[in-house]
Amino acid sequence: MAVSRLLKLAFLIEVIICGTEFCHINALTMDYYVMRCPFAEMMVRNIVNGALQNDPTLSAALLRMHFHDCFVEGCDGSVLIDSTKGNIAEKDSPANIILRGYEVIDQAKQAIENQCPGVVSCADIVAMAARDAVLWAGGPFYDIPKGRKDGRRSKIEDTINLPPPFFNTSDLIRTFADRGLTVQEMVALSGAHTLGVARCASFKDRLTNSDPTLDSTYADSLSKKCSAGDDTVAPFDFTSTSFDNQYFRALQSSGGLLTSDQTLYVSRRTRGIVDGYAMNQAMFFYDFWQAMVKMGLISVKEGSQGEVRLNCRKIN
Ligand code: HEM
Ligand SMILES: *[C@@H]1O[C@H](CO)[C@@H](O)[C@H](O)[C@H]1NC(C)=O
Repeated sequence: MAVSRLLKLAFLIEVIICGTEFCHINALTMDYYVMRCPFAEMMVRNIVNGALQNDPTLSAALLRMHFHDCFVEGCDGSVLIDSTKGNIAEKDSPANIILRGYEVIDQAKQAIENQCPGVVSCADIVAMAARDAVLWAGGPFYDIPKGRKDGRRSKIEDTINLPPPFFNTSDLIRTFADRGLTVQEMVALSGAHTLGVARCASFKDRLTNSDPTLDSTYADSLSKKCSAGDDTVAPFDFTSTSFDNQYFRALQSSGGLLTSDQTLYVSRRTRGIVDGYAMNQAMFFYDFWQAMVKMGLISVKEGSQGEVRLNCRKIN
């Protein structure tokens, strides 16, 4: 009790001091919740770890959720909004068909709301969950800035801003540059495909058109798999629940699953970066961490630009 009173007092003092122009109380910081909700990060980590223990494939889902949140309307939790009578939301777009893990976010939100009502945004929970999923799967350990506010818009048509699987390197470079991300950061972030799977619908054109940049033995096994239907899934690399540099090694032997994966090795503009990450996992981890922090800051809403949603599935 005494501790929580002390924290409230400290928060009040911060608010008073920060009434001055010298202090941006709404800016994102690493310790944003240290005073406001000290156990928020721990609660998210515990709930994510518990969920991944039951289902390791959720690490991919939680990582992708953050990416799809950030590339559409900025990192503002818009991907979590449910459709309503008058509005078809982002999550019902074909691009988000295999997106999962919404219950994990709900569970974390519920636990946090019980302790600190109306303080921790859904956008921050998604960002923290993605970070924790990467660590759980064996990836780098890193801190991220927090303090994002939740947006009030989620429309299916906005998901047109997500890069499709048939993009080539120049398309990808442009899409990522539009959000302030460099070529190197684009390649590092693509390394997220070290986790998870894609549906045959996302790569079957490479099989029917005998894509010369796809290894033929690999293509045969994918064709067999995909005879079961468009929604059958295949892993990006053979360690699909371990965060490692196997994805980049696969690209070196024409084993990329999507056109947008293999193009990174086909193009001379990015091949050297792929070779670097394939050779040096520590370098991939470091660049991935830096790029994730940067991706997590795309068009974030601060202060009154957004809200802290009470239920991540609907605006307040
Ligand atoms: C470079 C451009 C990218 C393209 C074109 C792309 C495309 C795709 C596609 C088509 C799928 C399979 C979806 C399906 O079949 O329904 C997928 C899965 C996935 N993507 Fe990406 N992606 C890109 C970048 C990223 C980034 C930057 C991240 C995260 C930082 C990411 C994380 C994932 C993950 C983890 C999966 C597996 C999901 C699961 O198994 O549940 N992707 N991506
Ligand atoms: C990449 O694809 C676009 C169309 O999406 C095309 O205009 C462009 O020429 C392609 N670039 C390369 C290098 O193949």
